[in-house]
Amino acid sequence: MEKLPNWSKLGLGTGTLASLGRAASLSEVDRLVATMLDIGVKVIDTADSYGSGDCEYLIGKVLRERRESFTIITKAGYRFSNLPYPFRPLNQFVKKGLQHLGFRQRFTTAYLSKCIDSSLLRLRMEYVDAFLLHNPPLEIIEDERLISLCTSLIKAGKTKQTGVSSENPEVIRAAIASGAFTIIQTPANLKAAAMLRTLWNECDDHQIHVIGNHVFEPTCLNLDGVTHEMLMRGSSALLPENATILCGTRNPSHLRQTNHWASMPLPVAEAERLAACRT
Ligand SMILES: NC(=O)c1ccc[n+]([C@@H]2O[C@H](COP(=O)([O-])OP(=O)(O)OC[C@H]3O[C@@H](n4cnc5c(N)ncnc54)[C@H](OP(=O)(O)O)[C@@H]3O)[C@@H](O)[C@H]2O)c1
Repeated sequence: MEKLPNWSKLGLGTGTLASLGRAASLSEVDRLVATMLDIGVKVIDTADSYGSGDCEYLIGKVLRERRESFTIITKAGYRFSNLPYPFRPLNQFVKKGLQHLGFRQRFTTAYLSKCIDSSLLRLRMEYVDAFLLHNPPLEIIEDERLISLCTSLIKAGKTKQTGVSSENPEVIRAAIASGAFTIIQTPANLKAAAMLRTLWNECDDHQIHVIGNHVFEPTCLNLDGVTHEMLMRGSSALLPENATILCGTRNPSHLRQTNHWASMPLPVAEAERLAACRT
């Protein structure tokens, strides 16, 4: 596995940067990126379907010559609409319609090959650092054609690494067993820890980089006075030491604060006690 130079403890999650009706402006994203550079947050997690491509477009436009300072992760597998201008504002409605009609995901090799090429165009990049399958079903992880595709994307220089994003323990177990992936992204909140912690450790044993998302799961908050700080420091204690944790925000002060918390894990016993209360 090629070691990526720019991993950091915290990463920026961009799931809501281009949300329908409340997309971030270029200057907002520019401020976030400036804060990331200031505090050493180097990972940006996105997906082709976030904002129907608009999120990648925004990131590409803001990063420009700063691209080499960041580790860029994108994902594919969800279907979305990609209408050209001036119809782009309709994309997110069409995506919702496709999902409503049951056309939610697609994992054929031809489709995924097109996805990564389109992502690179939107991101204005020659390569991404990691390309992840976005919540694939189990049979996809066991499909040799998909595994070959991942290898060929690395060989073609389109991505440095490939991985799987999933909350399904069976899928994660199969992804580890396949030996084909070097990154696993999973929920990493204190509730998820009960089900996934042994798999996080297995990833670590196999030199698979763990990326944790959804740490501030709303149902974990405020119970017994639990704060955002306790959740982040708790997850940081239970994840493997070199894991990356995503923070989904467009607020630079929240990013600074969360970065500070992520670097101060709770004592493991305290994190385990908090996690046990959440199951
Ligand atoms: N692969 C997948 O299927 C998948 C699934 C879920 C998430 N993800 C990735 O993981 C990222 C993060 O996960 P998430 O979006 O579920 O959200 P999250 O990071 O767990 O929580 C985001 C929420 O926390 C708030 N927040 C952040 N820092 C805070 C702070 N210091 N104090 C108080 N509130 C704070 C944010 O509000 P403000 O905006 O006000 O800061 C936002 O409402 C996503 O953006 C996406 O990149 C991937």
